[in-house]
Amino acid sequence: MRRPFIAGNWKMHKTNQEAVEMAEELVELVKGVSEVDIAICTPATALAPLAEVLADTNVALGAENMHWEAEGAYTGEISPVMLKDIGCEYVIIGHSERREYFNESNEDVNKKVKSALNYELKPIICVGESLTQREADRTKEVVQEQVMAALEGVAVDDLTAVTIAYEPLWAIGTGQSATAEEANQVIKYIRELLTEKFGEVAEQLQIQYGGSVKPHNISEFMATSDIDGALVGSASLEAESFAEIVKFE
Ligand code: 13P
Repeated sequence: MRRPFIAGNWKMHKTNQEAVEMAEELVELVKGVSEVDIAICTPATALAPLAEVLADTNVALGAENMHWEAEGAYTGEISPVMLKDIGCEYVIIGHSERREYFNESNEDVNKKVKSALNYELKPIICVGESLTQREADRTKEVVQEQVMAALEGVAVDDLTAVTIAYEPLWAIGTGQSATAEEANQVIKYIRELLTEKFGEVAEQLQIQYGGSVKPHNISEFMATSDIDGALVGSASLEAESFAEIVKFE
């Protein structure tokens, strides 16, 4: 059985004081939860103080991006070694905002995924189609290309450390989520692709849905056959709403 996995993506929000206050509140609210994997992925500036707040709790820490090199002349970038050193367990890779605004290609995503795994960080790989692609009935094609490219050259043994987040672009930050059935169809398809490529181990992989997940709709997604959790944007910015999502019924 796969464990549910609820992760927050704070994007570019919160000063360190705000970050610490919210994390402290969250830790209190979810401390009894033992059957769900929980993580918050936060701006790099907040990682060090949050590592202290989250130490010895059931909330794991993640970053929102990384470079694939361990070190070097890459002004402004942050390496997997640094993330590991600071106490990160997860790192989001290939979020659509990175692909769109920072020109991240499928090839870049693949380099980052392999590097994260190499440094024992668990990648949360984001894939998803745009509205135009969806309207042209290209969802499966786009998602297949992104998933396959991201995992090119990844060893079967490393696959259990990987999470995929299916985030249709038109559902991100719009309040217009995919229906649970729509999202489940695509996620089921992703699992089939992974089974074809990697075999039975794909059954163990956690695949999340992301895009306007809120306390009021989380249970619909979690009731489906293949959706194992959520990558939550704006509703992860408040401890109470994120905790409600973590404690879905
Ligand atoms: P929202 O939950 O704000 O739609 O954001 C989703 C997302 O992009 C998570 O990575």
